[in-house]
Amino acid sequence: MRPGSGLAVGVVGATGMVGRELVALLEKRRFPVGELRPFSSGRAASSVRFQGRAIPAPGVSAAALRSCDLVFLVSSDEVALELAPALAKAGVWTIDDSAAFRLNRNIPLVIPEVNGSALRRDRRLIAGPNCTMTGLAVAGALLHELIGVREVRLASYQAVSGAGKAALAELFSQHSALAGLRTERDGRAPVLGPGKSSVLPRAIAYNAIPQVGRFGADGYSSEETKVAAELRKIWSAPALKVSATAVRVPSVRGHALAAWLTLARPVTLSRARALLARTPGLVLSREGDYPTPRSAGGLGPVYAGRLRRGATARELALWITSDNLLKGAALNSVQVAEELRRRGWLSRRPR
Ligand SMILES: NC(=O)c1ccc[n+]([C@@H]2O[C@H](COP(=O)([O-])OP(=O)(O)OC[C@H]3O[C@@H](n4cnc5c(N)ncnc54)[C@H](OP(=O)(O)O)[C@@H]3O)[C@@H](O)[C@H]2O)c1
Repeated sequence: MRPGSGLAVGVVGATGMVGRELVALLEKRRFPVGELRPFSSGRAASSVRFQGRAIPAPGVSAAALRSCDLVFLVSSDEVALELAPALAKAGVWTIDDSAAFRLNRNIPLVIPEVNGSALRRDRRLIAGPNCTMTGLAVAGALLHELIGVREVRLASYQAVSGAGKAALAELFSQHSALAGLRTERDGRAPVLGPGKSSVLPRAIAYNAIPQVGRFGADGYSSEETKVAAELRKIWSAPALKVSATAVRVPSVRGHALAAWLTLARPVTLSRARALLARTPGLVLSREGDYPTPRSAGGLGPVYAGRLRRGATARELALWITSDNLLKGAALNSVQVAEELRRRGWLSRRPR
């Protein structure tokens, strides 16, 4: 699309894990971009590929962002806090994937197929949800709407790309350093020891780390706290009880969750299966099959399988996985923008 005939779209953090997916999705989904304005930290010369061209991604220009019709913020909480309020005030639709505004009661936190009704024409700043919570929020949405979910317990198995490009580079370099790993000469399994790390809190190759974010005074990590608070907001369920253990595992992309949902009343497994099968945005595996982070990687929907009865007649157990970079971030944000277009709220502003 030529400049002048489409929207001016800014992407702050375009050179990151989420940003590069987002730029690719704008092209793949034929979002009406007239001019793409990508930005990075500006610390090194960088560019992004869009419609067959390499477009430079310099450090942020607030003036260039202010004259956009739509800005995606996929950078950091700090950058979002600095840029988003002024952009929204200037009338620019601003969709932020950081955690900075998700729990602000005046700012919609939106997964379109779950709570698109939270969008408001006069709320130009919109938050995208935490990538770990997204799979659960989508998978349990219809069960919650029609039966009521009272309590959720979960353990996550989170991909390294969820911690950004530096963490993924750390996984790959730790993995290469162990490339020759074999059983010992006497046939015993090697003992790797704790290893060293600089980005993640512990070595991640061949490991599992029960810390995602910082620990609070209550012993929960910031990720675990976010999952609980954001799920309550997205489902409009302030009394929902949530207990989470968030774990980083050495998968590349695709967060997985083992979740136990306690419902308001017992349901048969066949009824639960029927509800999950018609939940928007969810693909339910046939009985006996299940998705994995690798099978969900690079794909848009949320996947679930291994539906079972939990410890009580009201509890269901479910395995859920979705691509953290797509439905957990970039795709969700593009879907929000598409929804704004569908409603006729997002169009070219007078230049
Ligand atoms: N990764 C996920 O699965 C996921 C899911 C949901 C939400 N999010 C959120 O999405 C955001 C981006 O995450 P990510 O994983 O893509 O991170 P990332 O791979 O580390 O990329 C960060 C991006 O921000 C840019 N940046 C850094 N400092 C900046 C500054 N001062 N001004 C402007 N740009 C700056 C980086 O530019 P350079 O290339 O120049 O360093 C890069 O483009 C974060 O808020 C994260 O919490 C991530």
